[in-house]
Formats: sequence, structure tokens, C-alpha cells
Amino acid sequence: MTSTVGPPPYYENHGFQPENVYSARQPGAYPYPQYFSTNAPPVPSYVPRVATYQSSRPVAHSSERTCASNIKKTIVIILSILLVICCAIAAFFIWYFVENRCLGSLIECGSSGVCIPPSQWCDGVSHCPSGEDETRCVRLFGPDFILEVYSPVSKSWYPVCQDDWNDDYGKIACKDMGYSVDTYYYSRGVATEVSFKSYMKLNRSAGNIDLYKKLYSSDSCASGNVVSLRCIECGLSIKSMNIMNRIVGGSGAMPGQWPWQVSLHMEGIHVCGGSIITRQWIVTAAHCVEGRYSDPYSWRVYAGILNQNEMLLRNGYRVQQIISHPDYDTDSKDNDVALMKLETPLSFTDTVRPVCLPNPGMMFQPNQQCWISGWGAEYQGGKTSNNLNYVTVPLIERSRCNSVYIYNGMILPTMICAGYLGGGIDSCQGDSGGPLVTNKNSVWWLVGDTSWGTGCASPNRPGVYGNMTVFTDWIYKNMQANR
Ligand code: ARG
Repeated sequence: MTSTVGPPPYYENHGFQPENVYSARQPGAYPYPQYFSTNAPPVPSYVPRVATYQSSRPVAHSSERTCASNIKKTIVIILSILLVICCAIAAFFIWYFVENRCLGSLIECGSSGVCIPPSQWCDGVSHCPSGEDETRCVRLFGPDFILEVYSPVSKSWYPVCQDDWNDDYGKIACKDMGYSVDTYYYSRGVATEVSFKSYMKLNRSAGNIDLYKKLYSSDSCASGNVVSLRCIECGLSIKSMNIMNRIVGGSGAMPGQWPWQVSLHMEGIHVCGGSIITRQWIVTAAHCVEGRYSDPYSWRVYAGILNQNEMLLRNGYRVQQIISHPDYDTDSKDNDVALMKLETPLSFTDTVRPVCLPNPGMMFQPNQQCWISGWGAEYQGGKTSNNLNYVTVPLIERSRCNSVYIYNGMILPTMICAGYLGGGIDSCQGDSGGPLVTNKNSVWWLVGDTSWGTGCASPNRPGVYGNMTVFTDWIYKNMQANR
């Protein structure tokens, strides 16, 4: 390998030029060929050079030496600065790709690392591995169910102008949120709020293409009306409330008063409550379907029956699938929500009806009057109640509920407190998964699902409920993906 090469030339070291002497001698060859040479002993060919440099060099003038060392210093400083800059640039890119893996205007599919251009979002064709690009294109906003469409280009939501809109489009939008078309209720125009500056409008002349491709953004809406869309007739109770005050401290419910309330049985025993949101989907708490309770086939769901003894004489609905929130935490009860899909759809009657899921942009007042219902214990340590009870409870602001003398920071954003700091009225064991509802704009909304509390009805230990508003995205996504 290196046997043909003569002794290396002397070399004057004008700075940091470490090993190029080898590569210059042997272009393309292994950079340290002489170490493997059979003829040339490696050490002598290297050591003498250094020694020679030291010994044979004439003694330089001190000014020359200072100049050389100054140049060295300068080069070292420059190289150090360059190294720091390179590290900073590298660190920036690492951060950029970890935080935001898609370059420029590309949008990431969930957290999959797959990036697609905005033009492919909401175009009716699924490009993301789990189809995220087609499942988050529409939403209903506020207490009036205003239909809004997402614009991936401007990364914001726009209300849809009523002009040229019809029920066929409404049905498409409802299907995209995970609702079934056979429960479709209505689309109607409502007067716009002044705050709307831009709208999504239908392009009539566009042919038979995807709904979202037919929509374009516009600053005007001739009718002045935007689409209010109801995908299911929800939140209706036939029984007008007699606001009485057993649950702990509640009263017995009338038939049809809480038609969304269901009792979840395992092996003939009431375990938890739940709320009907569609013919096939029940919302409950994740802690109700944990561990040995996670097998869908051991559950039976009873709807429209107030009395537990009566349930034992009936069959109940079978459960096909249970979806627990992936971020549910057993210890903290963070994300305490789960979905149950029934094997056969419910038939809606006066006593079996869905509750409305809260829309984004619903403002619940800090002390908003709400109602809880369930077959839970009527006192701490008591047994399941035979009849459905209900009681009214006000919401408690998170900051207050998190104060040291109440729950001292245990109330996470996925939770909401409701009850009385004086104690005496509360949900209790067996009420879990059941509804916390409020009435707004003549509609009953699911504000929360019964989750936890220290004891039951103790002073300064109110009930803690899953904050449904933060779960609706997850619920729609799962209903849509498991149709
Ligand atoms: N975790 C209970 C259940 O499984 C509900 C507790 C509600 N407690 C309360 N103090 N509000 O039924």
C-alpha cells in the first residue's frame, strides 16, 4: 500500500493543518496507510518530522514569533466563532423539526410526521394516514349551532353564508362530523352577528365536486344569514322542570325528564351512568371502563327506564365497542371520558333522547346553574339508588376550586367543578359517567360527565366532572372514524 512512497517531506506548520499531509500524499486512499504498511514502520515516519521541525528550524526573531502566534490565535478565535454559529444553526434545525416537522405552509397530519399542502386539506380525498385532513373541516359554533368551515390556507374558521345552501349540503357536513344522516334535523339561516368579517360561500357554478371545494371565502353574504345546522334533534326534555331540591340531597326524576340518562350494567349490577349523544353512541367516564370493565361484551345499557329493579327484567342494549380517551390518567383522572358504541341503534321516544354536545364558543357562566342525575348512592358509603335522582348544582370556577382549602391544584383543564362548598348536595359513587347538564337557548347541553370527588357532599369537596367542551373534538373524530 504505502511501500512505494518515500519519506514524507518536511512541512512548515503555518497553523492548524493536521492530517492533510497524508491525504495529499495518497488521494483516495485510506488516510493512514503507513500504519498498515509492511515496510515502513509507522512510528519513525511520524515522530522524526515533529522532532525535525523543532530542531532544524532556525531560531526565529521574537517579532516573527509574536506575529505567527497572533495569526494562530486569530484563526483559533475565528474557528471557535464559526463552530458556535454552526452549533446554533444545527440546534435551531433540530428544534424546528422536533416542534414543527412540516416546512413552509405544509400541514402535519396529526403528529404522524406526514406533511401535506393546504390545498389537499378538506378536498374530499383523504391524504393523511388516519384521514385527519378530511375529519376536521367543519364544526358547529356557539349556542346557535353556526356552521363553520376551516380554511387551511388562513388557518381559521369561517361561518357559511346561507345563500344557495340546502339540506343536501347540511347532510354532508353532518356526516363529516360523524353523525348519521337518518337523524339529520335541519339547516336554517340565522341573522349574522356583526363580528363576522368573512364568510364561506357556495360556488353554484362548480360542478358535482366535493362540498369543501365548492366553498370559497368572501367578504359579503347577500342574505346576511349564516347557516345554523342541527345534525340531530338533541337536548329536548318533554318534562318541564320542577326545580326541587335525593344523588345526595336530590329528588326522584319523572319519566322523560332526563331522557339522555342511561344506566350501565355489568353482570346485572348498575356500575355507572352515561349520556346518549346519538342513536349509537353513549358518553361515559373512562374510569368506568377501566381494567376488567373494558370488555364491551360484558356491558348492558338501559335507556328510558327509571327503576333499577325494572331493568333486571329487561334485556338492555349490547355494546359493540368501547373507546377510552387515550390520554386518560388513572391517578389524576385527567381526560376521564369514554365512548360506548351500541350494537343496535336506540329508537328515540319521549323517554329516550340525546343530549347536545357543547359547541366551541359556548360561554358557561362561572356560577351557571346545572343539573346532575344518576342512580348513585344517596349518602357517602350508601348503596346504589333504585330510582333515578337529580339535583341542581352551580358550576364553580376552576381557580376557586383549585384553591388550597378546596382541591389545591388538582383540577386540570379537562375537569370542571360543580356543587356547593357548604356540602350536603352532590353526586356520589354510582353516578360516575352520568350527565352534568345545563339549559341554554331552550336546549340541554352536556357540560360534563361525573368523574370524582373526595367523599360525597362534604364541605369544600364539590363534585368534579369531565369538561365536555374540551372532549368534543375527540368525540366527533371517533364517531366519524368508527361509523
Ligand atoms: N367516582 C364516582 C363513581 O365512580 C363518582 C364520585 C363523585 N363524587 C362526588 N363527590 N361528586 O361513581
